[in-house]
Amino acid sequence: MDAFVIHGGRRLSGRVRVGGSKNASLPLMAAALLTDEPVVLEGVPRLADISNMRRLLDELGCRASDEPGAHGAMRLTLHSHDESVSAARYDIVRTMRASICVLGPLLARRGQARVSMPGGCAIGDRPVDLHLRGLRALGAEISLDSGDILARKPRSGRLKGARIFLGGPYGPTVLGTANVMSAAALADGETIIESAACEPEVADLASMLSAMGAQISGAGSPRITIRGVRELHGARHTVIPDRIEAGTYLIAGAITRGRITVENCPIDHLMAVADQLEGIGVRLRIGEGAGNGVRASVTVECESRVKPTQVTTQPHPGFPTDLQAQMMSLLCLADGNSVITERIYPQRFLHVPELARMGATLFHQGPTVVVSGVRELVGAPVMASDLRASASLVLAGLAAKGKTTVLRVYHLDRGYERMEERLAAMGAQIERVDEKELAGVPAGAASGGD
Ligand code: EPU
Repeated sequence: MDAFVIHGGRRLSGRVRVGGSKNASLPLMAAALLTDEPVVLEGVPRLADISNMRRLLDELGCRASDEPGAHGAMRLTLHSHDESVSAARYDIVRTMRASICVLGPLLARRGQARVSMPGGCAIGDRPVDLHLRGLRALGAEISLDSGDILARKPRSGRLKGARIFLGGPYGPTVLGTANVMSAAALADGETIIESAACEPEVADLASMLSAMGAQISGAGSPRITIRGVRELHGARHTVIPDRIEAGTYLIAGAITRGRITVENCPIDHLMAVADQLEGIGVRLRIGEGAGNGVRASVTVECESRVKPTQVTTQPHPGFPTDLQAQMMSLLCLADGNSVITERIYPQRFLHVPELARMGATLFHQGPTVVVSGVRELVGAPVMASDLRASASLVLAGLAAKGKTTVLRVYHLDRGYERMEERLAAMGAQIERVDEKELAGVPAGAASGGD
């Protein structure tokens, strides 16, 4: 297993280019199962989760081939050539919860699907009841068998359009909306999804499905209308930039009191984050690409201690849960007390004890953490426990005095492409090492994958 060794305290300067969105790419890849024609995706990031999804699609008779595309990103061609297998095995599903997004496409196109029920993970329980409720409303017959979800088209034939409410106790569901929208694209008649997730990744999927011949309106808003068609065809689509990767680099610029330019930054997808950063004294300048806020260059600059604030995570366009941990690292160094409340995953705080090991003062109760800003963080060996928690520890390490060792960075590799190289190119002192080479680092016990 790899670890990062970081010698903190260097101001970052330079440029970093944001890659294609992981969370957009995964349902887009799954949507290739909806047609027997090739689907070409431009700008797919080279990440462990993408490789896992390729492996899963390959087992489902959907072949993937890649070649270099623009800016070194991957152009991925997916071709569903054998539609005889409709079962997604547990040993792949357990490596990546997003495997659930093959459920809707398999059901709609192949008439049946068997997908292992994903388990909980480091950030919480993560049920899929809303996915199943939505597919049932389309007429699917759903049962559980030995830990697998079995879904079948109704005996009467095609799935049938319906009005479906997809809100849950923590708001709408992103992948649930993707699943139901993908299935409804091939259903008979009109489907209206109420309380649909408004995340940009859902709108990106709708845009590709439309290019494949689907009839969808309202994606990106809480009501999506889908008029089912009999068949979808191949398409070419460019994945939106990764708003979470972009937000992480904006915070990296701020936490190191640096001055960096984040290129290909989807600033329109980061309004709540930009608002928070500007509110605490971080300067953001939107340069080239302005007017097309999905791909702008944003220069971030921060010369002094940030001010404290209150952050509450919410569904889009609110502050994203996927940047809560990174924002917490920044607020650990604020000039006063901040309050962070997690409303999407109330247990997503595994980074709290690790930040405390670095000298942060944090009071955690229920879904809220009070962060009492300190003058400096101090380097320490810390354990990454999930993807975004890992990113927050790297950011804290960049700002901390002395040496920080972030163990188990395989979590980070699931969502950030060559993060250490990009940070090093902006002046960070960070290197990837094999954990076995490290001396004096306690073999801590952290929870498993997300
Ligand atoms: N929920 C239910 N029932 C369901 C589905 C979800 O109660 O059937 C709850 C969840 O437990 C959670 C809330 O609803 O409390 C929202 O979950 P959602 O379904 O929206 O999450 P997801 O679609 O499984 C995606 C991202 C996550 C991101 C969330 C929220 C992908 C592959 N994953 O997950 O990304 O945190 O939306 O924005 O798109 C990450 O990238 O680090 C990550 C965890």
